[in-house]
Amino acid sequence: MPTLIAADARHLPLADAGVDLVVTSPPYWKKRDYGVDGQLGQETTPAGYVAALMDCLTEWRRVLTPTGSVFLNVGDTWHRRSLAGIPGRVEAAAADAGWLLRNRIVWAKTRGMPDPAKDRLANRYEYVLHLTRRNYHYDLFGYAERHGNGANPGDVWHIEPERGLGPHLAPFPVELARRAILLGCPRDVCTICGLSSKRIIARTGELDESRPQARRAMQLAKAAGLTAEHIAAIQATGISDAGKALVVQTGTGRNSAEVQRLAAEAKQALGGYFREFTFARKQTVGWTDCGHGGLRPGIVLDPFSGTGSTGAAAVELGRRYIGVDLDPACHALAAPRLAGQRPALAA
Ligand SMILES: C[S@@+](CC[C@H](N)C(=O)[O-])C[C@H]1O[C@@H](n2cnc3c(N)ncnc32)[C@H](O)[C@@H]1O
Repeated sequence: MPTLIAADARHLPLADAGVDLVVTSPPYWKKRDYGVDGQLGQETTPAGYVAALMDCLTEWRRVLTPTGSVFLNVGDTWHRRSLAGIPGRVEAAAADAGWLLRNRIVWAKTRGMPDPAKDRLANRYEYVLHLTRRNYHYDLFGYAERHGNGANPGDVWHIEPERGLGPHLAPFPVELARRAILLGCPRDVCTICGLSSKRIIARTGELDESRPQARRAMQLAKAAGLTAEHIAAIQATGISDAGKALVVQTGTGRNSAEVQRLAAEAKQALGGYFREFTFARKQTVGWTDCGHGGLRPGIVLDPFSGTGSTGAAAVELGRRYIGVDLDPACHALAAPRLAGQRPALAA
């Protein structure tokens, strides 16, 4: 059940080490005045703003599990005609405070807020900083299955801004939070030992049909009547040299005679195309289980919860959500988005 709490992001009424991931978009420096006492973003200097954000990071480190991390959406501000360089300042201060900057993700947009400037380009990107400790939960496989056709999809996220609940564009689309959660928040965690479940991954016989070589390999396999056992045999036998493979590749010697026979048969039929099946798509066939019998969903915290975009993504992905915001009025907007999950409104 999601929990919505009215509190300051620097002083969270949460226990130590109970949160798996922070995904958040704080107010940017000198942009919108939220009209609440103690708000972040209205500091007189960039240094003051960065110091306030560092206080937040210190508090988030306390509530994160040892393998928890932070996806922090930061934007810049033109001040006296010059960009203030906020993201760079935040990165440097976080590094000084012992965080690892594992990615500076570029959130690229093709449209955005109208910008009246006539002597510079309108800004159409922001950063999402992934800040971690040495060890952190990361599910690149699950993420790449959705976003990269199995390959590493890279650090540019093309996501259009969404309409907010008010008249403005929401600063933080649900899709952005969805990606961060897929990457950084475990599906479930053992309440006894704290270990998260990990994917068990196996190769399939499915190829990437966008590649002509793969399509040809599938045609040849079909024409020759190759079976799933043949494909498994190719994958078990492997390949060290695609060019010479038809002639010299006979396996490692560790494969059984039957596997080698099937692989040789398949190689005969496929020629040089058999290598295609050695990098067939992998898929999740199960999840590890530490066996203690007490699993809880991964827990996502947004300490600047606003209208609850992070919460909407967390709920959709089966994670538990804790939304914190100084302004309790925000929670009234967030609550319906988390409907079905009966948010617990706490003072
Ligand atoms: C950029 S908005 C967050 C938008 C959010 N991602 C959404 O989906 O609507 C920033 C939020 O931070 C809140 N806020 C400002 N200062 C705060 C502080 N010190 N602690 C907690 N929340 C704060 C504001 O009330 C506002 O709702």
